[in-house]
Amino acid sequence: MRKIGFQIAKGGVGKTTSAGHIALGVSLRGKKVLAVDADPQGNLTSWLSIHAPKYELSDVLNEIATLEQAIIPLTGNLSLLPTFAHGSTLRDFAELKLLQRPFTFRALVKNIETLGFDFVVFDMSPGSSSLEKMIIAALDEIITPLTPEFFSVDGLTTFVETLSWINKNLEGNVKHERIILNNFNRSFAQHLLFSEEIKRLKYHIYTIAQERPLADGQKDHLTAWDIRSKNIPEFERLAADLLGV
Ligand SMILES: Nc1ncnc2c1ncn2[C@@H]1O[C@H](COP(=O)(O)OP(=O)(O)O)[C@@H](O)[C@H]1O
Ligand SMILES: [Mg+2]
Repeated sequence: MRKIGFQIAKGGVGKTTSAGHIALGVSLRGKKVLAVDADPQGNLTSWLSIHAPKYELSDVLNEIATLEQAIIPLTGNLSLLPTFAHGSTLRDFAELKLLQRPFTFRALVKNIETLGFDFVVFDMSPGSSSLEKMIIAALDEIITPLTPEFFSVDGLTTFVETLSWINKNLEGNVKHERIILNNFNRSFAQHLLFSEEIKRLKYHIYTIAQERPLADGQKDHLTAWDIRSKNIPEFERLAADLLGV
């Protein structure tokens, strides 16, 4: 089972939007995919789940519910392990219990694998607290979404430092080789300049255009495929690259 996550310690750059679309994109290629909402704000859940879930990720971690009880089927091969948008106990779990149970997320992904999933995608909050660090340590690869702004490169540098700390101190073996340049608008000279700058770094770059209907559709639980987004080919390219096809 492949285990990937979307992270950078910066909000509003497209982590949730990317995580949902890549989870869906991989599932459309026939793989059994679980999207895990590991952000205590539950944005991925609000977007992808039409009904309010009964259980959430932290209920599984607290052994109140089993994985099978908490996972909700979405569409085709895609399922979701949700986090409540209101009243989630995930942050409490992270603050009160996680440090005594540092292998929680490694155990969780093993259990997910035994359910027959081929691919798991974690959406995370923009923090770099122990919750995010311990999730990252349990994964194979992190993809970083960036928006074309001056401060984004600083955010990337900080993330690279955090990741090398995780790989060293939490015995992680986490790759970081892909960036999503999100919210890109080629009519802005500054965006073109930023894109050139980013292309000089050693990453594979995927460019997702700024597209208002993509954002508007999320409140109605719609994805790029529902709105026939112009960004579908780029989400598909990343999904295919992740599968090595
Ligand atoms: N390519 C895009 N074009 C237009 N709006 C976008 C795009 N990507 C994300 N958004 C919007 O920007 C906001 C932040 O995106 P989100 O995925 O929630 O970021 P994060 O998870 O990093 O906080 C959301 O309102 C989302 O709908
Ligand atoms: Mg988010």
